Amino acid sequence: MTKVNYIEASGRAHTVEAENGISAMEAAVKNGVPGIDGDCGGAAACATCHIYVDPEWLAKTGPAADGLEKSMLEFAEDVNERSRLACQITLNDALDGLVLRLPDRQH
Ligand code: FES
Repeated sequence: MTKVNYIEASGRAHTVEAENGISAMEAAVKNGVPGIDGDCGGAAACATCHIYVDPEWLAKTGPAADGLEKSMLEFAEDVNERSRLACQITLNDALDGLVLRLPDRQH
C-alpha cells in the first residue's frame, strides 16, 4: 500500500492508502478526492487529472514524459515544470507518502 496526500488549492488535504500498481488518478477517483476527474479513464487523453508534484517528490516521480503526457498537458491550465498527469504516475513503495497538489480547477 502507498499513502498519497492530495492537497487542494485551498489547502484542504486528503490522504488515501492505495494499492501499488494503480495510478495516482485511480487512487484519487476511488477515494472520492475532489478535483481529479479522470474523464478518459487513464489513457492520457483528457488532462482532467492534472496535478503538481510537490518539489520534494519530483525526483522520485520524474517530470512529465515526452510524447503523449507532455502533449496532453498543453490542454491543461497553469502548467509548470512540476505538472504531471496523475494517471501517468504509477504508485509503488518508493512513492509512499507522495504529496500531490491540485490546481484551482481542471480545464
Ligand atoms: Fe485522462 Fe489522466 S485521466 S489524462
